[in-house]
Amino acid sequence: MADTWVRMVTAQTPTNIAVIKYWGKRDETLILPVNDSISVTLDPNDLCTTTTVAVSPTFDQDRMWLNGKEISLSGGRFQSCLKEIRARACEVEDEEKAIKIAKKDWEKLHLHIASYNNFPTAAGLASSAAGFACLVFSLAKLMNAKEDNSELSAIARQGSGSACRSLFGGFVKWTMGKVDNGSDSLAIQVADEKHWDDLVIIIAVVSSRMKETSSTTGMRDTVETSLLLQHRAKEVVPKRIVEMEEAIKNRDFASFARLTCSDSNQFHAVCLDTQPPIFYMNDTSHKIINCVEKWNRSEETPQVAYTFDAGPNAVLIAHNRKAAAQLMQKLLYYFPPNSDTDINSYVAGDKTILKDAG
Ligand code: ADP
Ligand code: DP6
Ligand code: CO
Repeated sequence: MADTWVRMVTAQTPTNIAVIKYWGKRDETLILPVNDSISVTLDPNDLCTTTTVAVSPTFDQDRMWLNGKEISLSGGRFQSCLKEIRARACEVEDEEKAIKIAKKDWEKLHLHIASYNNFPTAAGLASSAAGFACLVFSLAKLMNAKEDNSELSAIARQGSGSACRSLFGGFVKWTMGKVDNGSDSLAIQVADEKHWDDLVIIIAVVSSRMKETSSTTGMRDTVETSLLLQHRAKEVVPKRIVEMEEAIKNRDFASFARLTCSDSNQFHAVCLDTQPPIFYMNDTSHKIINCVEKWNRSEETPQVAYTFDAGPNAVLIAHNRKAAAQLMQKLLYYFPPNSDTDINSYVAGDKTILKDAG
């Protein structure tokens, strides 16, 4: 085997948006959550991460570039993911390229990783979810690991909690698990991407700036200081998870919208109940909530659900294409581009509408 070969794998992974939120860890190192969560995975052509992982005997250390800039891999989360995947690496034989990597070679071979997000990083649009899911998935393929996506989800979880849910399409549940080593804290698919394909997701990018308080820091402060979080995790979320699974299975949009909006609002209430309080939403986010609430009340049944992650950007889920068109019409009327409302782009389906208009 010549010693100048390079083996490369590229993968693309969509982000996911939680409709029942994960917020709070019971174990910081293993990333074990205080409650179950449910999300919807976006279309792979929408907001996604593309990661290329390469291995070569000529590489003398593990290195990573994110959006073109080199970043450090020394953090515990990257190290956990690399360690877990390396432990599962298997023999690779590529006759065409005359490459043969024995199982034990993976311990000493180094990696180069290049990752690119096609949407704002660290701005509350779940870049850590798409990012770590894609990293773990591409490494597993590179190293010929035999684990299924649920098992890989438990590794991605150790990079960023929300990442475990991006290993599957459609609606996905992250079960918090019971055991101390976290092996049962993983993602399972609730319904596949075809199950409810009338839904249209529109994201109003209110700000693509990096958030001031990362999800990790924010939820740590919440766990330490918020009493409301304990009520939420023990009393509220377990019931909502059951109801949400039902709503998804029955394609019951009225229940789905009620649960999604309530859970987003309670998550932000918990942030406000944190000491010092965390404000992820801004005036524009609040105006969007008002607009959707008013519209939903004026209809026989709700037409749109809203949810906001740890940032001011609105994720709007419309009942169907007609509701999505009406929603866009309303958004453009109330939040016109180049106004002081601050929305700088809308992303719908696989298209960005009005990119950077504001
Ligand atoms: P977000 O709301 O975008 O998920 P977080 O604060 O949760 O913001 O996480 C942002 C962090 O996730 C980044 O600082 C980086 O460490 C990590 N991250 C983002 N994109 C990637 C990627 N493509 N590959 C690996 N890690 C990533
Ligand atoms: C509001 O998964 O980004 O998006 O596990 O510390 O990396 P870490 O946090 P992260 O938190 C996501 C929080 C959320 C809700 C959710 O995705 O469920
Ligand atoms: Co994140």
